[in-house]
Amino acid sequence: MKNLLTIALASSVSLAVLSATAAEKVDTSKLPPAADKKDVSFEKDIKPLLEASCLKCHGPEKPKAKYRVDSREAFVKGGDSEEAAVVPGKSADSPVVHMVSDLIEEMEMPPVDKRDNYPAFTKEQIGLLRAWIDQGAK
Ligand code: HEC
Repeated sequence: MKNLLTIALASSVSLAVLSATAAEKVDTSKLPPAADKKDVSFEKDIKPLLEASCLKCHGPEKPKAKYRVDSREAFVKGGDSEEAAVVPGKSADSPVVHMVSDLIEEMEMPPVDKRDNYPAFTKEQIGLLRAWIDQGAK
């Protein structure tokens, strides 16, 4: 019994260490800078980008990782990972920014092998997304 408890404890500790390392691995100095644009709008500026590059896989019908990008709320909330995709006010800490900037191996979005159909965000588009998040993701 005591041994089992030790094993359970040890594995949850190592899991915590693992996920901490995964988060630390993101080198945010590689992120394109946020755009200067004021009053960036989800509807006008961000949604069209998501529609071109993400919506086919993250729409209302069988969304991958149960993650939807067809509303501001869903885009911010995240999916299966149960981690917020957007941290309002903090674009450099927002997982979705890391993914579209190819800073998370195996979680590049759109997936690298699908980019013929779903274009990767340009540096300018990532900058716009960052500006929207830094302005509060409203
Ligand atoms: C061709 C299909 C496809 C496209 C296009 C695509 N994704 Fe994904 N996305 C996936 C798949 C598959 C997963 C699950 C990957 C995994 O967990 O290993 C995923 C997972 C995610 C997650 C993790 C959600 C969570 O909480 O678990 C985010 C965030 C995400 N995608 C964002 C985007 C964004 C933003 C775009 C557009 C720039 C995009 N994806 C385009 C297939 C796609």
